[in-house]
Amino acid sequence: MAESGKQGKTGKAPNEPTDVTRRDFLNEITFAAFGIAGLGSAVVTYRYLSPNVLFEPPTKFRAGNPDLYPLNSVSYLPDQQVYIVRTAEGFYAVSAVCTHLGCITQWKPEAELIACPCHGSKFQPDGTKIEGPAPRPLPHFLIALTLDGELQVDKLEIVKPSQVLKV
Ligand code: FES
Repeated sequence: MAESGKQGKTGKAPNEPTDVTRRDFLNEITFAAFGIAGLGSAVVTYRYLSPNVLFEPPTKFRAGNPDLYPLNSVSYLPDQQVYIVRTAEGFYAVSAVCTHLGCITQWKPEAELIACPCHGSKFQPDGTKIEGPAPRPLPHFLIALTLDGELQVDKLEIVKPSQVLKV
């Protein structure tokens, strides 16, 4: 008596999952490997072609109204690492970064000098070196007034210490 069921030539029912051959398996692995390699190449190419931009903070900044700074004062602006100095002659902006190895100096009002905590360099409020290993005085930055009357410092523009802003 013959069995009544539908079977294909392989002897399996049509809805029954077929066995994956070794060749099919290797083909799928190969396609997956090429896919991963292609994706990796695309990422590397994209990163190579995209511009290598370094975002730095702006070098020009507003330091507020001149009235904020009392006469004969040294004011440290920590965000900019700059001292705003006001004397009877006018304003100047002095870098707070030590010229020795780049430590941030500190204004010492009791001694009326700028001191570096790293190796002991000392500077006058106008940046002139007093003592220590610093090879140069603290540089002065260009300071000007904006159209609306605020102080503006440009840390990219080094000026002579004698250049003061009269307000
Ligand atoms: S970094 Fe200022 S004295 Fe060395």
